[in-house]
Amino acid sequence: DMIMLNNHESKLAADPKWEFPRNQLIIEQTLGEGEFGRVLRARAKDIAGQSGYTTVAVKTLKEDAREGELNDLLSEYELLKEVSHPNVIRLLGASTTPGGPVYLIIEFAQYGSLRSYLRRSRQIKTECRPQFTAPSEDCDPHQNYDHPTASQVTPKDILSFAWQISNGMSYLSDVKLVHRDLAARNVLLASGKICKISDFGLTRDIYEDDAYFKRSKGRVPVKWMAPESLSDHIYTSKSDVWSFGILIWELVTLGASPYPGVPVQNLFHLLRQGYRMERPENCSPVLYKVMRSCWHIDPTERPEFSDLASKFEKMLGDSV
Ligand code: ADE
Repeated sequence: DMIMLNNHESKLAADPKWEFPRNQLIIEQTLGEGEFGRVLRARAKDIAGQSGYTTVAVKTLKEDAREGELNDLLSEYELLKEVSHPNVIRLLGASTTPGGPVYLIIEFAQYGSLRSYLRRSRQIKTECRPQFTAPSEDCDPHQNYDHPTASQVTPKDILSFAWQISNGMSYLSDVKLVHRDLAARNVLLASGKICKISDFGLTRDIYEDDAYFKRSKGRVPVKWMAPESLSDHIYTSKSDVWSFGILIWELVTLGASPYPGVPVQNLFHLLRQGYRMERPENCSPVLYKVMRSCWHIDPTERPEFSDLASKFEKMLGDSV
C-alpha cells in the first residue's frame, strides 16, 4: 500500500548520476502490464546527454504492488546501472525521489519483444485483414499491435538474432550476471533489428503469460529452465545456456511455444529420461545440433556463450 511505498521511498538515497526529474517525462501509453508491474511509453526531455525529447520506456509498479515488487524493481535498477553492451537494454535514468512513483527509464525498442515480432512476421505473407479472419487458436492476446509492422524474417535474420543474443549473454556472463529468465519474450528488438536482452534480475511478471507456471514463490518459466534449476534451484551461466537453446527453438519456429502439448508437471521427468524437442521444420541440422548442445544434461558439457557467438558468426559468414 502507499504508506509502505512511501516509507520505502524515503529510505531511498537518490543516485545523482541517474536521477531524472519526473516533470521532464510525458507519459504516452501503456506498452505492457503484469500482475504488479507496468511498462509505459514516454517522452523524456533532455535525457542521457540528448537535448530535446527522446522516446523511452518507463518501468513502474501498479498501485497494488507490495514491498517485494518494489525491491525487485530496485534490484533491477542496481543491475542495469552496472551493464553496458549494445545487445543489453540500456538504462537512461530513474525517478526515485519521494512524492511520486518509482520510474526506471530505459531505452525504447521500437519493435517490442522479439517473440511478438516473430509472431507478427508470420502474418506478412498473406495480407492482414483482421475483419475477415476467423479467430484462430494461434492468435496472441498479448500481442501489441502498436509496434511497427514486422517484415519477413529470413534465415539470415534468425542467425543474426542468435548471434546478437549470444554476444549480449557472453558479456553478461563475463560480468558474472546470471539472467535466469532468458526467453524470446525477454529480448527486445530495437531499430536496425538490434536485439536487446532485458528483464534480467528478478522482475519476471511484467507480462501475463502462460509461460510462467504458478508456484508459491511466484511464477516459474518451467519450459525454459535447465533440469538443475528445476530440481535444485541452481542458476548459472550454464543454465542460461540451456534457456538459450530453447530461445533458438523459438527463433526457428517464429515464436512458437516450446514442448507443445507437454504438461509442465511432466517435463522434469521427461528431460531426465533424455527426452528433447525434435528438430523443427526449416531448421538446418547444423542449427539443431547447436540447440541440442545447449540441452546437455551435464551443465559443464554445454557450450559457453562465447563459443556460441563464434559458431553463429561462422554460420552467418557461410550463409552469404
Ligand atoms: N516493452 C517492454 N519494454 C520495452 C521497451 N524498452 N521498449 C519497447 N517496448 C517495450
